[in-house]
Amino acid sequence: MKKDFLKIFDVSPNEFTGLVKRAIELKSGKDASKCPLIGKSIGLFFEKPSTRTRVSFEVGIYQLGGQTIYLNPKEIQLGRGETIADTAKVLSRYLSAIVLRTYTHATVAEFAKHATVPVINGLSDMHHPCQALADLMTILEKRGRLEGVRVAFIGDGNNVANSLIEAAALTGMELALACPEGFEPNAEIIDYARGKYKSNITVVRRPEEAVGMADVVYTDVWVSMGQEDGADKKKEKFRNYQINSNLLKQAKKDVVVLHCLPAYRGSEITDEVMDGPHSAVFDQAENRLHTEKALLEFLIK
Ligand code: CP
Ligand code: NVA
Repeated sequence: MKKDFLKIFDVSPNEFTGLVKRAIELKSGKDASKCPLIGKSIGLFFEKPSTRTRVSFEVGIYQLGGQTIYLNPKEIQLGRGETIADTAKVLSRYLSAIVLRTYTHATVAEFAKHATVPVINGLSDMHHPCQALADLMTILEKRGRLEGVRVAFIGDGNNVANSLIEAAALTGMELALACPEGFEPNAEIIDYARGKYKSNITVVRRPEEAVGMADVVYTDVWVSMGQEDGADKKKEKFRNYQINSNLLKQAKKDVVVLHCLPAYRGSEITDEVMDGPHSAVFDQAENRLHTEKALLEFLIK
């Protein structure tokens, strides 16, 4: 049976920590000459722009011995009305896995339903599970553990926040999210995380409440791809949700700052913090490569 990775809850707590640990091994150079994807082709279907996801998958697949085919939806027949189901069935006859970046999560779910090869969600409006794998790898590297680590997420309760909640649930990380009214993360995901995993997830209004004694402070853009309508009004509501040196004073002295990138410097994060001693954002970006490789190894048999 093929296995998909559409959201973090598609893997078990053991599988999740196994992936993070394997990524750390791969980063250290272990099994650098192992090429499990020789002779295999992986499709990358992206409806939205990408720097990290696209390049880390392309490079990771090359390093594992495989080949990538980048599929722009406008350049394949899907853009002219061929159905998602037919596209998924046909592509499954050629490819060993498909990475999708879509507007609505329904597209990636429909694709996975009809594909007979593993489907990986490279970001949808609801989830960004590949990002959360790299986030927790970075937290484990910097803090030496995951269980009990206090993470504060400041800003939009979006795809990145939803996947972070699921990752926290699987690992016992404590997560406080500070979001403006109307921009909270998905309530069903929070309820499920609390119900099944007894996770310590809290949603608060003021950034200071979340950041108090945090080990890690995380933010993402205020306006996600595909949500540009009404962006100016939205930014106004996020004015006090910036990670700056003043806010960081509330956190632990050795706090680690994360951002999935791309960053809008001067909006959700200041230059001073992004380029400062607490920032691990470029390690976090690098870790996308190692976690993508661990994931591909795990899914493609
Ligand atoms: N963090 C992330 O997914 O970046 P890209 O949009 O550049 O892929
Ligand atoms: N929340 C952002 C993440 C970008 C990697 C977006 O969806 O645009």
